[in-house]
Amino acid sequence: MRSAILGVGHYVPTKVVTNDDLARTMPTSDEWIQQRTGIKERRFIERDGIGASDLAVPAAQMALERAGRKVSDVDMIIFATLSPDHNFPGSGCFLGEKLGLPGVPALDVRNQCSGFLYGLSVADAWIRAGAYKNILVVGAEVHSTGVEFTERGRDVAVLFGDGAGAALVGASPSDDRGLMSIHLHADGTGAKDLWLPAPASKHIPRLTQEMFERGDHYPKMNGKQVFRWATEKMPEVSREALAAAGIDISKIDLFVPHQANMRINQYVADKLGLPPEKVVHNIERYGNTTAATIPIGLSESVADGRIKEGSTVLTAAFGSGYTWGAAVLRW
Ligand code: ACO
Repeated sequence: MRSAILGVGHYVPTKVVTNDDLARTMPTSDEWIQQRTGIKERRFIERDGIGASDLAVPAAQMALERAGRKVSDVDMIIFATLSPDHNFPGSGCFLGEKLGLPGVPALDVRNQCSGFLYGLSVADAWIRAGAYKNILVVGAEVHSTGVEFTERGRDVAVLFGDGAGAALVGASPSDDRGLMSIHLHADGTGAKDLWLPAPASKHIPRLTQEMFERGDHYPKMNGKQVFRWATEKMPEVSREALAAAGIDISKIDLFVPHQANMRINQYVADKLGLPPEKVVHNIERYGNTTAATIPIGLSESVADGRIKEGSTVLTAAFGSGYTWGAAVLRW
């Protein structure tokens, strides 16, 4: 038996923040951001008090509706995020409460940009083992409250946006459809190339005044290293997943890469020999929504007809950790 994505949905907040809006709060420019990343605008939560689990609710409802399932059919929640509502408990518990699913187990996945693929892999194993029937796999992020809109933090702040995507994963209706292969990797030697130094449980206290003044509670990134690793590892793991599925790249109808940077995606597509019309981009509208980018890309592609029954889809992610992965799906 295979698992399959039975329905996929997404939600982004209504507040649009353009590059010019950011340039009014810190020294940056529309030209710098577009040239280096392809981003034109991103969405931010409209007000204080909206967490990743709130954004996940409408995304999950859309996924369920498209799958023809009810909320009460969900028997497991997997919630991938690097910006959980709170450090604990997990955002999956908050989502379960908001959807009205008392007693349904919930697991948080903390694998950053690759989180959705890690969640999908766990869901696949549980479905094939018969442990659960309808698993909600969510990627949801609120980044706008966690980056620093100053000169010190501008390299990171311009990249990220808020948003959520969700997939309902269950048994595939037939053996020639569903998740054909999925491959994951991690390498902690690059852990500090993109990380949040504090608060940290290894420090007493977890956030000192000195750490606070240094801005250790904002993400720190070595952008050039991230770029280098992403452009090497995404094609590599894509080829692994294709080989395991026994599918040639020429048979891929659509490539839905993680949306970190337009240049990374163009580079990866070129390396794989995929023409531009087979590559999904929405980074210009949403920026990088980390764990949410892949389910948002899948959901929009279903909505606009680029993914339909029988489509063969390749998806790949790379992110902090480092973590990376790729999957081949036949819709
Ligand atoms: N606006 C204007 N100037 C800026 C900004 C900004 N937002 N940020 C940095 N600069 C300045 C720097 O201070 C530097 O100035 P200097 O030359 O006077 O010292 C100059 O721009 C160039 O900075 P670099 O860091 O060398 O710029 P680079 O060409 O490497 O581009 C970028 C930076 C876009 C982050 C690039 O390295 C990149 O895309 N890396 C990948 C990172 C990524 O995708 N992260 C997302 C999370 S991980 C993931 O999802 C895969």
